[in-house]
Amino acid sequence: MNVCIVTGGGGVRIGSGICRALAAKGWTVVVADRDLVAAEGVVDELRAGGASAVPMALDVTDAESVRAVVAATLAEFGRLDALVNSAGVGLRKPGAEATPEEFDELHAINYRGPWTCIREVLPIPLENGGGAIVNIGSVHAAGAAETFTLYAATKAALAALTRGIARDYGRRNIVHPGAVESRGNEHLLADFVATKQMLPTAVEAIDIGNAVAFLLSAEARAITGVELFVDAGTTAMLFEQ
Ligand SMILES: NC(=O)c1ccc[n+]([C@@H]2O[C@H](COP(=O)([O-])OP(=O)(O)OC[C@H]3O[C@@H](n4cnc5c(N)ncnc54)[C@H](O)[C@@H]3O)[C@@H](O)[C@H]2O)c1
Repeated sequence: MNVCIVTGGGGVRIGSGICRALAAKGWTVVVADRDLVAAEGVVDELRAGGASAVPMALDVTDAESVRAVVAATLAEFGRLDALVNSAGVGLRKPGAEATPEEFDELHAINYRGPWTCIREVLPIPLENGGGAIVNIGSVHAAGAAETFTLYAATKAALAALTRGIARDYGRRNIVHPGAVESRGNEHLLADFVATKQMLPTAVEAIDIGNAVAFLLSAEARAITGVELFVDAGTTAMLFEQ
């Protein structure tokens, strides 16, 4: 049994997609989310499919809350093999128009949150079977887009943190999702897929989950410090002809 904590695992988009992909590969998933009801919903679904999963309330901005989730995981399973930092929030505003409060909240969740989780997990021997951390960044870490300035900065900071932690402590990677299709945004995404991707295929949450599952697997044992773009070619495309 390999055990993984997925922060933001209750999320209807990427968070739950990561949990589904890990469960399908036999991971025991700790679905940790600020929204406990959402985490419970994901766990019910995973268990119905025969997987092992538990919901836990987690606020990544609160170190005590992170410590409690790590302790509860160790108490329940006696081991922790991997961490996926997926909890994150967006902010759509020109950089100079955001308030200091918005700036602080964005950084507290998207950058300080993953750092806190990594810090609390590192002392635990992660090398018993899995032994890896994957952070969830964004294509916005790689380039500018209107209204994404501050969000992009948190994800670029997370990419730099991932490289530094990988250098100091072993297998740590980051997955940068492109625009991910989810219920309700299919219409908006159709135009994006047609004009801002190389592949004419919508990226789905399970695609992000499958990339994460690979990076956590033994097959990826020689991969560390990388930024893996799962974006159907958005980042690689300079502009449409
Ligand atoms: N959706 C996309 O197209 C997209 C694209 C690129 C990157 N991302 C990144 O993927 C990750 C998941 O985003 P998503 O849009 O798929 O959302 P999602 O549907 O996975 O939901 C995010 C989850 O994070 C949880 N969360 C928020 N703040 C938290 C906190 N302080 N502590 C614990 N949990 C918290 C929320 O309750 C929610 O369940 C984020 O890091 C986001 O920046 C998303």
